[in-house]
Amino acid sequence: MRIAQISDFHFTKVTFNPFRLFSKRLLGHLNWLFFRRKTFFEAQLDPLPKLFSDLNVDLVLLGGDLSTTSFIKEFEKAAKLIGKIKQPWIAIPGNHDHYTYRSYRQKHFYRYFKNKRDEITHRADFFTLKEHGIEAHKIMDGWWLIALDTALATNLYSSTGLFSEKLESYLEEVLKLIPDTDSILLLNHYPFFQNDVERHNLVRGEVLQKLIERNPRIRMYLHGHTHRHTIADLQVSNLPLVVDSGSCAQGKKGSWNLIDINTNGCTISTYQWNDQWTKTKTEDFAWTRP
Ligand SMILES: [Fe+2]
Ligand SMILES: [Fe+2]
Repeated sequence: MRIAQISDFHFTKVTFNPFRLFSKRLLGHLNWLFFRRKTFFEAQLDPLPKLFSDLNVDLVLLGGDLSTTSFIKEFEKAAKLIGKIKQPWIAIPGNHDHYTYRSYRQKHFYRYFKNKRDEITHRADFFTLKEHGIEAHKIMDGWWLIALDTALATNLYSSTGLFSEKLESYLEEVLKLIPDTDSILLLNHYPFFQNDVERHNLVRGEVLQKLIERNPRIRMYLHGHTHRHTIADLQVSNLPLVVDSGSCAQGKKGSWNLIDINTNGCTISTYQWNDQWTKTKTEDFAWTRP
């Protein structure tokens, strides 16, 4: 199976509401106008749908932060692009997709991005990202994708996520529903390592890490959020391959991953933006977790 992992579009549509002068959204847009506008380029996302078809991609994983402030017009821009993707896709929200307390409470993200699960007949289809913060998708024989929503609305100075106790119990339950012989890819917006400054971290990330350590069937942990492309094979430490796609909209730093999964291992090709999408590196990994 061939998977494209993309993340952190940060589609922006600047708005000015005179009745909400000190809103988080207004400040988010000012931040974009003064800083991020010079580093994020929506136009480089346009070639992706055709490229995915040219590369015979089977499944596209969207790792969150599709919008900048969860503004409806930003979701519409992201939905327009994703509507051009011919392959099945699975999307999770990032902190920017639950940006304001209102958009988080009313779950605006899920009005635009609802994952299709027509072929799932397993009991795991009881769980939904919108209601439970977790979904399990059987993506091929012997392989499952578990998607998590750990994003929260926060105050202006924080972009923390939360792996809540409830979500932990749901994840344990979903893992029990997946046959013991099957392998799992775990998709979350946040890294579980607490490397970043505290206000960007996943709260209870260490609990998620311990859970992943206890479950060697989790072969790969895919995430975004950091805007730093990273592939780390942590299998010797009883952890999965940790794969950060980086942000595909971030100018020449823009990146995404093409991942070929097979029974014995995987091949990950990195694509970077250099006036066009160019493959810059290909690495092979064997599944070595016991
Ligand atoms: Fe982001
Ligand atoms: Fe993020």
